[in-house]
Amino acid sequence: MASIHRTPLIAGNWKMHLTVKEAGELAAAIKKGLDPDLKHEVLLAPTFTNLHAVKEAIAGSKMFLSSQDVCWEEKGAFTGAVSPAQLLDAGCTHAIIGHSERRKIFLETDEVINKKMKAAIKAGLTPVLCIGETLEERESQKTYRVLETQLNGAFAGIPVLDVAKVIIAYEPVWAIGTGKTATPQQAQDAHIFVRRQAERIYGKDFALSVRVLYGGSVKADNVDELMAQPDIDGALVGGESLKADKFLRVIHYQPALVR
Ligand code: PGA
Repeated sequence: MASIHRTPLIAGNWKMHLTVKEAGELAAAIKKGLDPDLKHEVLLAPTFTNLHAVKEAIAGSKMFLSSQDVCWEEKGAFTGAVSPAQLLDAGCTHAIIGHSERRKIFLETDEVINKKMKAAIKAGLTPVLCIGETLEERESQKTYRVLETQLNGAFAGIPVLDVAKVIIAYEPVWAIGTGKTATPQQAQDAHIFVRRQAERIYGKDFALSVRVLYGGSVKADNVDELMAQPDIDGALVGGESLKADKFLRVIHYQPALVR
């Protein structure tokens, strides 16, 4: 299912890395190396404490700023949390929601992720919703069931009019930070499934227009093959986005080099 144009998006998820100074410098180096005629989108997701420095560093470029998480509440006694309005105020346009590290380490459920989706959308932040199966789930043939459950949970009660800008990132947990990338075919198959689920939930227009990123050990030397797949609309990049030269190569991927 790939008949309409979807603007590709390459996103860097910097996780809990870098000082304020390092994040500002990395963002500046990426900005400097960007092709001025780049047609697709680039998103940087630094730690909360580094948002300001990155915002300053990317000013005047076409890059967007994202948080790695968001709270579902608007304000109040929620120690340690950051609200959608605060993220907008800090310059974010996007928020990563439901990353597998949040699900696994911080025990986030589909219900919590759904609340975060609703709060982000209500505030005008674009969610980058992460879904993906563990190795055990893949090996016991549960991949599609898991993806279906995660999509149903994340989108529960959200009307079609509200999802136009939502981005989905398929990130098989077994490929994150492990150096084991899904093969381009495995990723393409999962993306087709995600698009079918998107159609089931919201209809064909959404399914054709929603951008589905792949994440999990995307590197300078495998991005071309991944981006050559018709249903892969971009990448969510962890480790490789922490090195300016490598991430710049990912950003400037060249599917035409794939034979
Ligand atoms: P990785 O992380 O590229 O280091 O595997 C991807 C992610 O967690 O988004």
